[in-house]
Amino acid sequence: MVVRVLLAALLFLLTSTPGACHTKHIMVMEGEMALLQCSLKGKGDSKVIWTSYTTQKMDLTNMSSTEQRQMDVLVYQTSLFILSASVKHQGNYSCSVGNASSQCWITLTVNTAQSGEHEEGSKYSKSCPIQKSCTLNCPDVNVPPNITRKGFTWHKEGESKDGYFPRVEKKDSGVYTCTRSYLYQGQIYNMTFTVKLEVQPQKPKKTAVIILPHENHVVDVVLGSQEVIDCKAVLYSNFDSVFWLSDESIVDTNTSLPVFHNFTREKKGDEIKMTASLVFQRVSEEDLSKNYSCKLESVSQPSSFVTVTLRTQKARPSYISLASSIVGIVGVMVVTVVIYVKLKVDITLFLRDTLGCYKQTSDGKSYDAFLMCYESNTDAGLNAHDRKWLEGVLEEKFGYSLCLYDRDVLPGKATSEAVLDCIEQSRTVVLVPTSPDPGLGSGLLSAIHAALVERQTRLIFIKTETAQVSASGSLPEALELLSEAGVCVTWKGMNTVHNSSSFWKQLRYYLPASPKLRLLPHTIQDVALWKNILPN
Ligand SMILES: *[C@@H]1O[C@H](CO)[C@@H](O)[C@H](O)[C@H]1NC(C)=O
Ligand SMILES: *[C@@H]1O[C@H](CO)[C@@H](O)[C@H](O)[C@H]1NC(C)=O
Ligand SMILES: *[C@@H]1O[C@H](CO)[C@@H](O)[C@H](O)[C@H]1NC(C)=O
Ligand SMILES: *[C@@H]1O[C@H](CO)[C@@H](O)[C@H](O)[C@H]1NC(C)=O
Ligand SMILES: *[C@@H]1O[C@H](CO)[C@@H](O)[C@H](O)[C@H]1NC(C)=O
Repeated sequence: MVVRVLLAALLFLLTSTPGACHTKHIMVMEGEMALLQCSLKGKGDSKVIWTSYTTQKMDLTNMSSTEQRQMDVLVYQTSLFILSASVKHQGNYSCSVGNASSQCWITLTVNTAQSGEHEEGSKYSKSCPIQKSCTLNCPDVNVPPNITRKGFTWHKEGESKDGYFPRVEKKDSGVYTCTRSYLYQGQIYNMTFTVKLEVQPQKPKKTAVIILPHENHVVDVVLGSQEVIDCKAVLYSNFDSVFWLSDESIVDTNTSLPVFHNFTREKKGDEIKMTASLVFQRVSEEDLSKNYSCKLESVSQPSSFVTVTLRTQKARPSYISLASSIVGIVGVMVVTVVIYVKLKVDITLFLRDTLGCYKQTSDGKSYDAFLMCYESNTDAGLNAHDRKWLEGVLEEKFGYSLCLYDRDVLPGKATSEAVLDCIEQSRTVVLVPTSPDPGLGSGLLSAIHAALVERQTRLIFIKTETAQVSASGSLPEALELLSEAGVCVTWKGMNTVHNSSSFWKQLRYYLPASPKLRLLPHTIQDVALWKNILPN
């Protein structure tokens, strides 16, 4: 490689020495004017000698001007003009200075229309940016004073053209020929030059821009939390940059400040991607009142900026808070349901007692309940006295109208018929366990069950506590069926009934609301009643 470079340099030195010049080759169209220029310069008095080697060796320089005119040649200074080229001019020419110790050779070729060669004149080139004005320059040569310039014309592919383009387009590029006309001794001689026009596509003008990813430059922030606002820009100069301003002053890059700015620059080709981030350690009320702007400063374009508006968000709807609110709602619902289930009885009774919330029953029935005895299989059942007391409280204190078998059934009827009559007249049937057998046969119990199912009358089955815990099958089959058909209220014996209101609450809850008498608890009347009714 190094050797080749050295050789080339040596060759150049050898060839560029005076007296040793390269053979040039010039082509001209027949009839056109050709110019042969000697690369040697005449020193002092010694002039350039032109010698033609066409038909025979001829010293053109020392010819008279008339002889030159006859040969259609003209020697002027170091140049040889072939005024109108013809095939006879084709051949070798040499120019030398002084005593011909140094000589240059030029070969001239004359193209005829038949030869098909269309290499015309010397080649020049010109390039213009697209959509800009462009002027083609027609080259000129140094002519003797007795030759007059007569202007020039432009052609492209045989068509006449103007050498000036106010807005050059891509289609204008191509090879143009410029023909200059010269007047010499009453004769016009043409000389053609070729100019290649190149129209360069416009380079897209690259302008730096700020890119803020926030819609309308509004940034949602959360008070007290960290916020980072990115300002991105694509730059084309190392001297361009983006940075953040807070109310006209530049935000510091010191990361120990509550508000600072940091940045990254990344160079890719001729693009520089820069990101300036405005960092709020914890967004404060004071920050919201300030104006923050991202500014672009450039050496090649006017500076620009984008101002952001900080907008507070009450709370970000995060999945966590959404989930917790769902859990909360579900929790409240569960608690409500649990409370309602637990206190259903109390709430219903409270509404009935204090607000009079009950359904007005106009079903044509005479009694709220029919109290019926069944044989308790344990001795925890109610005895005759307890039963009287129960009936008394229900009627006197709570105001229920009761159908009692031994009081309200008209004498003379068959037992079963009387019982069914009573069920017919009552809204509820209450089965009361009694210790001495009341003497109702299992056939009657079955009939009652059938009647209840048929009429869809509510049945309240008062159970003794011991009966409840005993294994199933301890009750007669008919009773078992009845206890399953109705709702159960547990009788825990006389002593607990006095202390606990649970039995009464349960019983009253299942009994229909009685509009006839509503006694508010703890009135003087109430206490008196209790005193009268309660067994000593
Ligand atoms: C012109 O010179 C070249 C060598 O430089 C030679 O080969 C050629 O034959 C010459 N032509 C004429 C017409 O003398
Ligand atoms: C040619 O001229 C140079 C100086 O120009 C001279 O040194 C040289 O002797 C001359 N040669 C001949 C053959 O005349
Ligand atoms: C010279 O060129 C002009 C314009 O191209 C043309 O009209 C004229 O005929 C030419 N003359 C000669 C001698 O070629
Ligand atoms: C950054 O700020 C802190 C607190 O204002 C200060 O102590 C520290 O010197 C600063 N650091 C620089 C590099 O300016
Ligand atoms: C700027 O600092 C913030 C907070 O420390 C960080 O999250 C961010 O990545 C930094 N940005 C750059 C471009 O260094």
